[in-house]
This record gives sequence, structure tokens and C-alpha cells, in this order.
Amino acid sequence: MLKSTLIKAVEAGAAVMQKFFQGEFIISNKEGINNLVTEADHASEKAIFEVIKNDFPDHYILSEEAGAIVMDSTFKWIIDPIDGTVNFAHGLPLCCVSIGVEQDGQIILGAVYNPFLREFFFAQRGYGATLNDKKIQVSAETVVGRSCLVTGFPYSYLDEPNGPLVVFDKLIRSGVPVRRLGSAAIDLCWVAAGRFDGFYEHKLQAWDSAAGFLIVEEAGGRVSDFTGKRYSPYQPHIVATNGKIHDDLLQVINGGTVN
Ligand code: IPD
Ligand code: CA
Ligand code: CA
Repeated sequence: MLKSTLIKAVEAGAAVMQKFFQGEFIISNKEGINNLVTEADHASEKAIFEVIKNDFPDHYILSEEAGAIVMDSTFKWIIDPIDGTVNFAHGLPLCCVSIGVEQDGQIILGAVYNPFLREFFFAQRGYGATLNDKKIQVSAETVVGRSCLVTGFPYSYLDEPNGPLVVFDKLIRSGVPVRRLGSAAIDLCWVAAGRFDGFYEHKLQAWDSAAGFLIVEEAGGRVSDFTGKRYSPYQPHIVATNGKIHDDLLQVINGGTVN
């Protein structure tokens, strides 16, 4: 039942995205000049809530635009109604709905759906990860210097030691291709599918990563914070890789050189 509700919820949000995409919609700013929210984000969230509340009225919900609907439940739905809102607002088809389901503090299900590429990523803890119902697995690359990486930048500049531009600078000066897609959930799923060898970002929220984190782990990858500790979506730092380049990429992020 949880799984079918999750699938229905993700599809409901994606249908709203498709309805609004490249049409007219109201765009507003959140904190920071280019941190956008559109009418479609709110409409997607509403459609997702309807599905979840209908099937599980007592479950806890944590969602980007509405915040937390706190319930005394062991289940929590962690929702990004559109991940990649800036892409969406500019008509770029790299955006998705992302929903993770947590039980007793552990993510047990995750789904990420990009309706424009028709890519539905799904994982259930212990059962592997799929793309459109076919099993996926992470890449085999073992060297950071030969890897293809992806990252994202926060909406407000983070001026700190080993900040986003410092790490990015070091990697590209070493000739490592580092892409920037604009949707952390898609970044994670593309690591899971073996398209990228690794992803890192300095400032994410729980709704950006809750589903994608499980999808990477279930595809055989490793996800951690910047110290190498197993990832929690409730802190900002993420490194998600095929596992084989993980320790070396962590070193680069923490000030080391690329090899
Ligand atoms: C953003 C995207 C982006 C990441 C930002 C997120 P939003 O989410 O995932 O890739 O770099 O940190 O905030 O605002 O499009 O839902
Ligand atoms: Ca997001
Ligand atoms: Ca969002």
C-alpha cells in the first residue's frame, strides 16, 4: 500500500508539472533573488498531499513549500514537489518530483520522476533500485581524475574554507568534467544509473535528497556527509558516489589534491 501510494503521489505531482510546463504561471521569489517558487510547485504539492492524506491521513509530512505537518506517526513523507524549479521556470526539462518515505527515522522507499524524460527512478530498502522498472547500478570507475562528476551550488554564495567554488575550481583545473544540472534529485539518480561516478553538494535540504539518497545506496553506491559518516538528510553536506571513488573524492572536498 505504501508503495502504491508513493507511485500515485509522484505521478500526481508530475501531471501538474506537465500541465504547467512552458505555459503561463506565476513565479515568486523566496529568500535570495533567484530562489524561485512557482504556482506549479504549490499545485504539485497540493496534488501530492491529496493522494497521501487520502490513504494515510495520520502520517507525518515534511514538504518544501508547506513545511512540516507534524503528526504522531512513525512514518514521514519527505516531499519536493518540483526539484529543479529554476530549470522548470525556464522551460528546461531537467526537473522532477521527489518523495522519500521514512519509517522510524530510516528512509525505506524513494521515488523520483522526471515526466519530460519519462524517467521513473524507484528504490525500496533491501530490494535494489530501478529506472522504469529495470534494475540499475552505479558505475565501475575507480579514479577521481578519470571520473565524470556532478554538483550543485546553493542560491546564496557560501564563502567558507573548501566551499563550493574552491572544490569546483580544483576539480576543473585537474581536467575533471563536473556538470551542474540544477536538480539534486536527478543528480543522485544519475549517479545511481551509472551516468555519473559521483555527486557532491555543500547545502541541501532533506526534501532534495531523501529519495535520491536511498536510490544511490540501493544501486550499490555510497552516500555520506563530508566526514565520511553515513548520510543523514537532516544535515547539509552530501557526497554520493559509486563507492569506489568515495574516499578519494572526500579527500578532495576536504582540501586534498586530485589524483
Ligand atoms: C534545488 C536543486 C538544485 C540544488 C539546490 C536545491 P529546488 O532545489 O536541487 O540542484 O543545487 O541546492 O535547492 O529549489 O529546485 O527545489
Ligand atoms: Ca529541491
Ligand atoms: Ca523544490
